[in-house]
Amino acid sequence: MPSTNRSSPSSLLENPLRTNLTTTKYPLLKTGNNFLEKQMNVLILGAGGREYSIGLALKKDENVEKIYFAPGNGATDELGENLRISDFTALADFVEANGVDLTIVGPEGPLVDGVVDVFEARGLTIFGPSAKAAQLEGSKIFMKNFLARHNVPTAAYIETDSLQDAYKFIETLEAPIVVKADGLCGGKGVIIAQSQDEAKKAAGEMLSGNSFGEAGTSIVVEEFLDGYELSVFAICDGEDYVVLPAAQDHKKLLNNDEGPNTGGMGAYAPTPLVNDEIYAKLDERVIVPTLEGMKAEGMPFKGVLFIGVMVVNGEPIILEYNVRFGDPECEELMPLLKSPASELFYKAATGDLKNINIEFHDKYAVGVVMASKDYPYKSSPMAEIIVDDIYHEDLNEHAHISYAGVTRGEDGKLYASGGRVLVCVGLGDSIAQAQKRAYMLVGQIHFAGKQCRTDIAYQAL
Ligand code: AMP
Ligand code: GLY
Repeated sequence: MPSTNRSSPSSLLENPLRTNLTTTKYPLLKTGNNFLEKQMNVLILGAGGREYSIGLALKKDENVEKIYFAPGNGATDELGENLRISDFTALADFVEANGVDLTIVGPEGPLVDGVVDVFEARGLTIFGPSAKAAQLEGSKIFMKNFLARHNVPTAAYIETDSLQDAYKFIETLEAPIVVKADGLCGGKGVIIAQSQDEAKKAAGEMLSGNSFGEAGTSIVVEEFLDGYELSVFAICDGEDYVVLPAAQDHKKLLNNDEGPNTGGMGAYAPTPLVNDEIYAKLDERVIVPTLEGMKAEGMPFKGVLFIGVMVVNGEPIILEYNVRFGDPECEELMPLLKSPASELFYKAATGDLKNINIEFHDKYAVGVVMASKDYPYKSSPMAEIIVDDIYHEDLNEHAHISYAGVTRGEDGKLYASGGRVLVCVGLGDSIAQAQKRAYMLVGQIHFAGKQCRTDIAYQAL
């Protein structure tokens, strides 16, 4: 058991919770005296597969009584109750009136818009960063300048709103060259230009507001990093943190990482591409200086710090921060969590992570996204989802669906309603076994125009 005093960077380093995989049985909330004395009610904000998977983890958690989703999707109503409330004050009213003990925020939008600030001003317990801290994702310029201030390794860059300065910097770089819009663009604001001319064109289109409107009127231009990409998640309470098993996402639409970028077509965890040395470098060079820096700048970070890492010649370099779980990474990480999700989120939200023993299953998870026909180009017509009866015991026990872009029809059936429709998650003692189960489940699911990659986890096999 690590010491509980981990408030300084050196103590954080001596006692990284990540390595705290003890077999101690943690106390149930009902019996623990440092936790709730009753089962809790939880509200999850968001509508995707990420939020479904958090709901599924909480559904299996004996510490949880009732789950609400706002707005949720066509399948989350099987896990709890969907609410049609989006206004933050009205959500806080609902939470107060209905005895909700914990709110978990899925997507970045409400975080950047200050939902945590509204809830905390009313003394409500909520998992996620303040609007100020959410700038780590809300503004790439803020994030890059923060990394530079705190000596966290990242690609060489300039931030500018001047086309002339952008051109000058582009001329010093070799292609490929990366051009990024400053603000939130739903994952589309990054252009990897294959020549200086293409980079100049992208910068011009962003700065004129033609590509991404206001979000692109300031930009970051940076050097291209050539390596392999990881998704690393630290659950933080402002002071302490727990690192989850590292995952790998597959951002491109097609096999072999070809085609356009997407929100992610599949992921797996833990990835063998991370060793103890890389974890240690991440702790020392990235997570500790970031949490200390956020605290020192008056915006302690609470919530999920999603670290987009490029490993270049064994060195982890930061591509970006997000302030929420990755989707589809969350769908693989939630089932790997052996300790109750309720305890992890509640203790992070209440600044109590020093009093937690987090355990993970000694297993692998592979998630394959099934997307609708025209994803990511345009919306697709609704299509009924048919899931074959599953007789295979292996599949029933070791695979499941996390629903995302689905709507429940008036006939009670589920329809694919666009984008990423669902994620088939397989668990196993090896990545190959987890992958096999995920794809067996894919084979049981049918809807018109379905598409998926057939090589998820290839880098690990
Ligand atoms: P971001 O939204 O910054 O994570 O960028 C989206 C994707 O673009 C990342 O997941 C990477 O695959 C890629 N990318 C972003 N910045 C770089 C870079 N400097 N070098 C190489 N690839 C990058
Ligand atoms: N899967 C990457 C993301 O959620 O941004």
